[in-house]
Amino acid sequence: MDTALLSQTAAAMLGAGKGLLAADESSATAERRFASIGVECTEANRRAYRNLLFSTAEIERFISGVILFDETIRQRADDGRPFADYLNARGIVPGIKVDGGAKDLALCRGEKVTEGLDGLRERLAGYFELGARFAKWRAVITIGDDLPTGACLAANAHALARYAALCQEASIVPIIEPEVLLDGGHTIERCEEVTEAALRATYEALAVFKVRVEYAILKASMVVSGKACARQAGVDEVAERTVRVLKRTVPAAQPGVVFLSGGQSDLAATAHLNAMASMPALPWVLSFSYSRALQNPALATWKGQAGNTRAAQDAFHHRARMNGLASRGKWTPEAEKRPA
Ligand code: 13P
Repeated sequence: MDTALLSQTAAAMLGAGKGLLAADESSATAERRFASIGVECTEANRRAYRNLLFSTAEIERFISGVILFDETIRQRADDGRPFADYLNARGIVPGIKVDGGAKDLALCRGEKVTEGLDGLRERLAGYFELGARFAKWRAVITIGDDLPTGACLAANAHALARYAALCQEASIVPIIEPEVLLDGGHTIERCEEVTEAALRATYEALAVFKVRVEYAILKASMVVSGKACARQAGVDEVAERTVRVLKRTVPAAQPGVVFLSGGQSDLAATAHLNAMASMPALPWVLSFSYSRALQNPALATWKGQAGNTRAAQDAFHHRARMNGLASRGKWTPEAEKRPA
């Protein structure tokens, strides 16, 4: 475990006014995204689309790191360099999704546990060779009438902690992601309760497995109303409840928290981050690690046509710039209209 490298990587990932681009959609998720724009989900198209995002001019001003998928870290940019080397040369830290996906949790109907610990030590060594300096593991927690169960929280916390320990051993910064899904009719109060329980279980497991929180980053879901809940909480309420839960559960020794967008609208994801980053005296850097909320407009503009590349890059640049502002608490709705 090279603690100097881990510190340096975490600091680079949490640079002021910057956040992460999650471009680690699995093949099945990429299939759904491409289907939404009527584009065939071939390896060549996935490469072309990721190349479009990564080669956007000046994106390193707002994007400090990119989470890659196994296929992508083995692909090359248009200039022939492997994507990891290409990003690194632009001052963007390459990272890698290493979990094997969320699978049904035995005897717990409707719940998932993330798999992928077997052989992970060897895979991490391989990814380090390929240039990855941080990793991501996503656990999924569903809110329902009697969900989540203690079994679901415990199984996922255990896996996150085992993963994080293996990452640190390999001098790779772990992004620890216990995502509480926003699907369902639950209230924001219920989301707050479940998020707190999930984070408590996660940090207890991290302590048991000797994970050093100084060299880890939390990827958190925000505390929001369930998508189908009649009362949708406003921006300030989301920000207050989310930060309250984080303060109760996340050690101040941890350098940063980045948020996922989870199906929020692009603007809501930006506004929520902005409201939280504006709060005084937070012990950690707060920023973004969005997939959909950064990529949606770019994907819709691209439509698989090479002729739309520039316009799609402009759309991506815009959302990255807006979220960069939000991570400093400097975003306003008017900023959306100002040209770069
Ligand atoms: P979304 O921002 O689309 O939720 O994706 C982030 C992510 O990486 C989920 O694991």
